Amino acid sequence: MVIRIFDNQDEAGLYAASLAERAIMGAAHPVLGLATGSTVIPFYRELVRLVQCGLDLSHITTINLDEYIGLPPHHEQSYHAFMKRHLFSRVNIPESQVFIPDGSVPDLAAECGRYDEIIREYPIDLQILGIGVNGHIGFNEPDDLLVSRTHVVELSEETIRSNSRFFADVSEVPTRAITMGVQAILQARQIVLMAFGEEKAHIVAKAIRGEVRTDIPASILQLHRDVIFVLDKGSAKELSLAKDA
Ligand code: F6R
Repeated sequence: MVIRIFDNQDEAGLYAASLAERAIMGAAHPVLGLATGSTVIPFYRELVRLVQCGLDLSHITTINLDEYIGLPPHHEQSYHAFMKRHLFSRVNIPESQVFIPDGSVPDLAAECGRYDEIIREYPIDLQILGIGVNGHIGFNEPDDLLVSRTHVVELSEETIRSNSRFFADVSEVPTRAITMGVQAILQARQIVLMAFGEEKAHIVAKAIRGEVRTDIPASILQLHRDVIFVLDKGSAKELSLAKDA
């Protein structure tokens, strides 16, 4: 496990983007697993900057972690729209090589199966993750068990409350999502989890230093052999580096 603590989010974003560049340069057909949310915005900004400096993304495949159920792809708070805004409209990844779960289809079970096929077909080289204040990764919420495969999840009250900052009212936040399961995340060759701000400090410390528990889904990353935690000083506040692994 590697832990990197940066002075600010821009530096952390640049570091994460350079890890993505390394993964892209190191594979003939690179596959990036991508996340949405406030934390990963500096990563996309710096990745776009690298593209402006000559990095080619035309041969990469991207697989997003999750999508709300009930929001059409063009809804501005859908993860489709987020990805378009922060990455896909700015770089040269062909649309046919971009995968995001579709939460607007009537047959959600079929959609989960379709997504697992995609994940099987394109093994992920580098998986970018954020972390929820409750420890979720993707939308794998704290529970008695963690689901391996792509599945429909009822979002926790904490997640709905937290994500309501992007909606006019909490009642507009979707209550369900499709998410990649933990198996796909753990099968990625390398994982980069980004976390910023003091409000994440407690859960980051638990995920990194605590026991591996299903009620702290991110703690399962301790079992992965190549995981890098990209933090700022706020989110790293409760880690004691003296106990570094
Ligand atoms: C979204 C996702 C989530 C977020 C997490 C943190 O695709 O996978 O796990 O990474 O909810 O969100 P922010 O960064 O907005 O705090």
